[in-house]
Amino acid sequence: MAKARSQFICQSCGSVYNRWNGKCDDCGQWNTLVQEDPTRGIGAAPGKQRQKGHAIKLLPISGEIEDAPRISTSISELDRVTGGGFVPGSAILIGGDPGIGKSTLLTQASAAFSRAGHRVVYVSGEEAAAQIRLRAQRLGVADSNVLLAAETNVENILTTLELGPAPSLLIIDSIQTLWTSLADSAPGTVTQVRASTQAMIGYAKKTGTVVILVGHVTKEGQIAGPRVIEHMVDAVLYFEGERGHHFRILRTVKNRFGPTDEIGVFEMTQKGLNEVTNPSELFLNERSGSSPGAAVFAGLEGTRPVLVEIQALVAQSSLGTPRRAVVGWDTARLSMVLAVLEAHCGIRLGSHDVYLNVAGGYRISEPAADLAVAAALISSLSGNPLPHRSVHFGEISLSGSVRPVAQAGLRIKEAAKLGFNSATMPKTTGAQNPVAKGFDIFEVDELAELAARIAGSHHDGNQRAD
Ligand code: TYD
Ligand code: MG
Repeated sequence: MAKARSQFICQSCGSVYNRWNGKCDDCGQWNTLVQEDPTRGIGAAPGKQRQKGHAIKLLPISGEIEDAPRISTSISELDRVTGGGFVPGSAILIGGDPGIGKSTLLTQASAAFSRAGHRVVYVSGEEAAAQIRLRAQRLGVADSNVLLAAETNVENILTTLELGPAPSLLIIDSIQTLWTSLADSAPGTVTQVRASTQAMIGYAKKTGTVVILVGHVTKEGQIAGPRVIEHMVDAVLYFEGERGHHFRILRTVKNRFGPTDEIGVFEMTQKGLNEVTNPSELFLNERSGSSPGAAVFAGLEGTRPVLVEIQALVAQSSLGTPRRAVVGWDTARLSMVLAVLEAHCGIRLGSHDVYLNVAGGYRISEPAADLAVAAALISSLSGNPLPHRSVHFGEISLSGSVRPVAQAGLRIKEAAKLGFNSATMPKTTGAQNPVAKGFDIFEVDELAELAARIAGSHHDGNQRAD
């Protein structure tokens, strides 16, 4: 019989090798390869001898569908991102930078859950019970019946949980601090993180408990990031935001039981996270008067329209290679828009520094933002401000044409609701968009039309549309 070969796993990025190397070729880290015996323990092949299985029942695909039962989280933004609440027996990963507010969110969620009469256990491997109590006091939830434990050993946690009734909600803060005696490597390594996750998911499936795992996004090296367990859990949520800003966005990346394009918006205050039901108002309330280089983008997150300001600064560069700095948008996308402006609109920015910023620490992933970005760039270059109460949206193609985007009606409706009075957008075919009274629509077919309009507009000319 062939000898079972051991494999070597990089503890930093999870790459698998047949031989030991000093350096991992994938992530470039040194001394991170650790030998694993594939016939034993976690990640092991099912043993040398094939065991006799038992027959399983094959089902027709056309069978009855049972809606997954859900438990509302009592926090409507959290319900929105999970697709209507937690599904019993599911495992959810919440990732995010250290200090972004994951523990805060989960402390509030667990308190709300326990107030609704559920049993909740909060296991922290990072903080002592006293610290968690202090946070709970600060959040005004210290009177709830959440049970605490400061523990990092998986076996101890599971043994403890088996003593009482299974909780409805179990929070593990964070998965990188857990360790199980099934794996040999140190806590925080890929092997440990995976093995501990597997044990916690097993517990969720067995008991119907909702297990939430917190995972810190890490700078490469030292400890394994949440990515290495994304494929194992039922849902992956990322909590993001800029440190300097108080908005926090909970974004669904994967969800086996619901939509993956929803966001939940929160505001970090002295007393914890508050839900933000109208994010556009929040993102726009820092706007000042109209100045060149600012354009409002009417975006869409899942089912919800979000209006946000895009700011551009174009300045003559003193460097051989001009700077391109982007916050909140894709750098490659900016390069594309700049190339289209140059090729089809005769706007040369090759000797200019370009800075682009999405206000409020928000991050845009929609291609529909192209038109707003282009408008902001042209406005900054020409020194002509865009009409103050105007929104922009549309995708730009490499040929310089402006392509339609989904849900134009919804975007316009939100803009009208917030007091905007015009929209620059792609030509729509067929049915007219429902437009509020006194709301002007400027349809553009080619980016060059928009460039000519902005570059040719004068300061008093602007008043017309405002
Ligand atoms: P925390 O939830 O501990 O972050 P994470 O678990 O993601 O590492 O929150 C950290 C930050 O949040 C900390 O810098 C303080 C701030 N904060 C508030 O502003 N208000 C609050 O009520 C709380 C509890 C924290
Ligand atoms: Mg924390």
